[in-house]
Order: sequence, then C-alpha cells, then structure tokens
Amino acid sequence: MKKQQFFDRLADTWEDLSFPPETRKRIAALVATFDIRDGDRVLDVATGTGILHPYLLRAAGKSGCIFAFDYSIKMLCQAKMKPFGANLHCFQASAMDIPLPADLCDTVVCFAAFPHFSDQLKALQEMARVAKKDASIYIAHLMSREELLKHHGSHSPVAGDTVPEAVDLERMCQAAGLTDPLITDKPGLYLARALKV
Ligand SMILES: C[S@@+](CC[C@H](N)C(=O)[O-])C[C@H]1O[C@@H](n2cnc3c(N)ncnc32)[C@H](O)[C@@H]1O
Repeated sequence: MKKQQFFDRLADTWEDLSFPPETRKRIAALVATFDIRDGDRVLDVATGTGILHPYLLRAAGKSGCIFAFDYSIKMLCQAKMKPFGANLHCFQASAMDIPLPADLCDTVVCFAAFPHFSDQLKALQEMARVAKKDASIYIAHLMSREELLKHHGSHSPVAGDTVPEAVDLERMCQAAGLTDPLITDKPGLYLARALKV
C-alpha cells in the first residue's frame, strides 16, 4: 500500500485513537514552548486532522493566521469539519513542494510527520524557504527517535520511518539555510528547533 493511501485510511479514526486527553495535554504543553507571538503567521506542515489547530490559533491570536497542509485529502476533510475561523487556511500539498511564497511565516511547525517524508532534505528546504528571516522551525514528536522507530514497526508502509540522526539533521539544516539547530531527544520527546538565517 502506498503511504498516502495508508494515511487516508487512518483519517476517520486518527484523533480518537492517537490523542487521548492525556496526550492532548502534552501537546498543549509542547506548543506552549514554541516561539509563537500574537499576530504571527504559522505554518503547520502535514497537519493531518488538525490536532494542533486550537493550540496554534490560541498562540497566534486573532490577528495571526495558520496555514496548514497535508497530502491526505481524507485527513484534511476531518480538519475542515472543525469549527475554526477565517484565520485558518487548510490546503492539500506535498511537503516537498509547498505552494506558499518565500519569507511568509514567522514560525514553521512539523509535528509527528517529518519521518514520513520521502525526501526529508527537500521538505526541510521548503520549510526554510517559506520561513521569514529569524523564524523558528520546529520538528516535534511526543517520542524519542528510538521510540518512533519502534512505534512505526517493521511491517507497515511507515516501517523504518524516523527522524534523522542528530549529525545528519545538523547537516540538513546547514544545506537548508538554517542555523543554531537545538535537538532534544529523550523518552517521550523529540524536539528539533532551528532558525532561518
Ligand atoms: C502521523 S500523521 C500526523 C499528522 C498530524 N501532524 C498529527 O499530529 O495528527 C503524518 C501526516 O503526514 C502526512 N504526510 C506524510 N507525507 C507527506 C507529504 N510528503 N506531504 C504532506 N503530508 C504528508 C500524512 O498524510 C499524515 O497526515
């Protein structure tokens, strides 16, 4: 099965199965650590069903806005059923070809998705391209790199998917025009943050 089809099939039950109340609390706490200010434009890369939307919208405030995309139309359908307002823009796109202009966003967030991109460097370059100078770019998971590998198992379309080793991510950041990568990789959390030069 192709990966995109795999995610389409997960869409209907994704939130119920993946985000019990305790996990939602951890997501709220994670987003609270992101450098998002009132009025910011935030990009949510591979948004899925939009689990981050309420937290990002709260952080960016009424004058901010959220751009959110995913390549799974079924995931996006779930996201679009939620009652969020005019400052949320959801669209279908590939992480390797983001249909937004350069230097648009104050913050770029990629939550629970980076391991699945077929060309991680290209995706990171795209995330960097749409970010403004000095913007923060986050790759985040509620699992460590090792936990992600185990979680994705060995027999599914996402088998073996994980985040790059720290040294590889540092090289990728350099190639994407990102600086000061700061990587936390411990049980229950993977968080990489870099800045657009
Ligand atoms: C594990 S889900 C996480 C979704 C969401 N961020 C969340 O935490 O609920 C991974 C998401 O990445 C999306 N995805 C995978 N590869 C993609 C790509 N190349 N471009 C855009 N979206 C992609 C999938 O469709 C899926 O919605």
